[in-house]
Amino acid sequence: MNEDSAPGRARPGDRGQRGPRLRGSRARAVVPECADTGPAVREISRKGVVSCKGGRGRGGGEADWGTMRYPTRALVELSAIRENVRSIRETAGGAEVMAMIKADGYGHGAAAVAKAALAGGAGRLGVAYVEEALALREAGVDVPVMAMVCTKGDEYERAVERGVDLGVGGLRLLEEVAAAAGRAGRAARVHLAVDTGMTREGAAAEGWPELVERALKEQAAGRVEIVGIWSHLACADEPDHPSVAGQAKVFREAVELAERAGVRPEVRHLANSAAALYLPDTRWDLVRPGIALYGLHPAPGLPDPGLRPAMTVVSQVAFAKRVAAGSGVSYGHAYTTAGDVNVALVPAGYADGVPRNGGNVLELLVGGARRRIAGRVCMDQFVVDLGDDVVQEGDEVILFGPGDRGEPTAQDWAEALGTISYEIVTRIGGRVPRTHLD
Ligand SMILES: Cc1ncc(COP(=O)(O)O)c(C=O)c1O
Repeated sequence: MNEDSAPGRARPGDRGQRGPRLRGSRARAVVPECADTGPAVREISRKGVVSCKGGRGRGGGEADWGTMRYPTRALVELSAIRENVRSIRETAGGAEVMAMIKADGYGHGAAAVAKAALAGGAGRLGVAYVEEALALREAGVDVPVMAMVCTKGDEYERAVERGVDLGVGGLRLLEEVAAAAGRAGRAARVHLAVDTGMTREGAAAEGWPELVERALKEQAAGRVEIVGIWSHLACADEPDHPSVAGQAKVFREAVELAERAGVRPEVRHLANSAAALYLPDTRWDLVRPGIALYGLHPAPGLPDPGLRPAMTVVSQVAFAKRVAAGSGVSYGHAYTTAGDVNVALVPAGYADGVPRNGGNVLELLVGGARRRIAGRVCMDQFVVDLGDDVVQEGDEVILFGPGDRGEPTAQDWAEALGTISYEIVTRIGGRVPRTHLD
């Protein structure tokens, strides 16, 4: 059989309606609906599927993606998250770990990540919003969960009833939370936020003494329990940046002032991933790693912390065909084929988290080799130029992963696009199912 007559060989004019390995064929039907069938995915899947969920309940509730066929999936290795937490704990010495699982666990699936992080030794969890904390309570998580970005009108009464820790950096919010606690008949657990120089959350230095004083009054009245004092570093990924030492000093002074006034917090915390790993003086009682849990480097210029990226995004070739030299590809014809070539269509687009500005820039693994996206990324699909190489419909495509098989990492994508890996993993779309592997 010559190459041209091989099954699935793309030929000029082939509309690709029949391929030997189309989705829904018997070969796929013998594996669980949740598992993917490509070799790399099978290799990861040996770890065992723990859960397979998708749709983040946006608008229409949570779809049962686990039983639906969807061509693009995010595989999340929970063993990597457990190991990453262990490793961060070891580096951070005696500090407790609050695993940051906001934004649906940085796109990895908050409930599953929460359980893995706790199994790896985290003692607490951190999220951005009260709603995220309440969702974790609904998922059966009963360790301390802190909501950091608290907003007027949030469900504070419910949050207090469910024992959610609240980040409070202003007098108005303190009052609102205390009033909700009064209605709930139970003290609100608050972590007082001080702005040490990031100019984001927290009381400005001048307002800090008053916030402390008012919180102590509310504590005496039984409406508030001051659980923590915290702040956030602007430049932890640049340890020599002068703001780091400056913020550390202001934090120390703020803690001393509060303690002199009578605050006895369980935990004082300042360090994100980069600080937990590289800035020992900022660790205090508790570190708040986010990106490092997921195995991504928080400060790519600094020594490799040896973590394992937990997420692999896989898809498959939807369609392949041969096209003539000079063919304009995708919207705007931003790419033109240099010769007669085979092209493959990958069913993942910017709605799935493939950045639109990744057109003609991002690489991925198709048919075992690195290829670049050809032309613009569309909402649901993009095209890859294979040259004379051949792929078949259904063949595995790895967008990014830990890099084991030669695929790019989220960090590679971030560098290619001039952004950070945080953005790459958190923007994986709500319709992409997450398959959690043990
Ligand atoms: C207040 C706070 N603490 C901790 C983190 C975790 O940061 P990282 O993911 O860099 O570890 C974040 C994330 O942005 C944050 O906003």
